[in-house]
Amino acid sequence: MVQDRFHRNIHYLRVSLTDMCNLRCVYCMPEDMTFRPRSELLQDAELLRLVRCFAQLGFDKIRLTGGEPTLRENLVELVAAMAATPGIRELAMTTNGITLKPLVAPLYAAGLRRVNVSLDTLDPVKFRRLTRWGQLNDVWAGLHAAEAAGLKIKLNAVVVRNQNDQADVVDLARLTLEHNWQIRFIEVMPMGQVADFQKSAMVPEAELRSTIQQALGPLELQNNGLLDGEARVYQLPSAPGTLGFISPVTQPFCAGCNRARLTADGRLLLCLLRDKECNLLSLLRAGAPDEDVMKHIADNIWYKPWGHGLARDVRPTRNMSEIGG
Ligand code: GTP
Ligand code: 5AD
Ligand code: SF4
Repeated sequence: MVQDRFHRNIHYLRVSLTDMCNLRCVYCMPEDMTFRPRSELLQDAELLRLVRCFAQLGFDKIRLTGGEPTLRENLVELVAAMAATPGIRELAMTTNGITLKPLVAPLYAAGLRRVNVSLDTLDPVKFRRLTRWGQLNDVWAGLHAAEAAGLKIKLNAVVVRNQNDQADVVDLARLTLEHNWQIRFIEVMPMGQVADFQKSAMVPEAELRSTIQQALGPLELQNNGLLDGEARVYQLPSAPGTLGFISPVTQPFCAGCNRARLTADGRLLLCLLRDKECNLLSLLRAGAPDEDVMKHIADNIWYKPWGHGLARDVRPTRNMSEIGG
């Protein structure tokens, strides 16, 4: 297992399959976003080779992200190959759900068992406004297909001040009364070209919990307050599902971080909110053997930053879509 100098075990790899997206969420990227040319991205064989290197270093959990991961060519073949990689125990994907429906069955057959679907509101007009381009029905179709196939589901709602911070939050929370899903509310993080907007849009967790409690009754803290990944988990009385709060701004969880990121352009990123990265793509293309690649990964992880610098206004240069969350 790879450790950093703060004795954190790093074994969860978030793999961005593409920087492209079929939406333009206002808190993620500018509408006129440009994407990297295909030749600058990891090819399938390069990506799978890196995944094997990470697995040999003790990484056992992979989450596929984007941009939007369902836009990657050969997605199903990549999932099958990663699921079959020795050492990988958990394979999941974070998607906006727009093009998920026809992929659910092949992805399940390939070994995917969990999806986290981004959904910020149940109101189609607001959904359109927040995503700029999206149709809410497409996401619902994907979610229902995923549920019917037996995939474990979490929803991610990024909360934006004055857009979905009131009735929308309550409506989303109410879904846990019907579905065995974890609905997570996320504090928006400032990064890249839209950082100023993101900073002004952030709604603190405490306020969200109070809004939900006033409408739906007391929230019961789960797991004695221990985090499930990054989320603190609550439950409404007798609900099958749970509510998670991911609060990187007001309650940072960097101390328990177990994550490294591989971007679509082959960079090992050491913290979501820091620019420190190392270029694995050029190492591969220079002909480095696996042992060198693995040593490079482990050496860089050793120097993983302690945490983000949001309190000191440190901002990463990349947009969220160029990292995948
Ligand atoms: P699980 O495996 O279900 O726990 O998934 P996850 O929460 O790790 O992944 P997901 O892609 O659903 O991420 C949900 C939110 O958490 C996104 O907004 C991410 O940007 C945010 N997030 C994930 N990892 C980190 C992290 O290391 N630091 C910060 N600040 N936010 C993170
Ligand atoms: N802050 C927090 N979460 C964000 N996401 C996208 N942009 C931001 C941001 N600025 C979320 C998406 C998706 C996950 C990968 O990250 O909604 O669920
Ligand atoms: Fe696309 Fe996700 Fe960014 Fe929305 S948040 S634009 S769905 S990458």
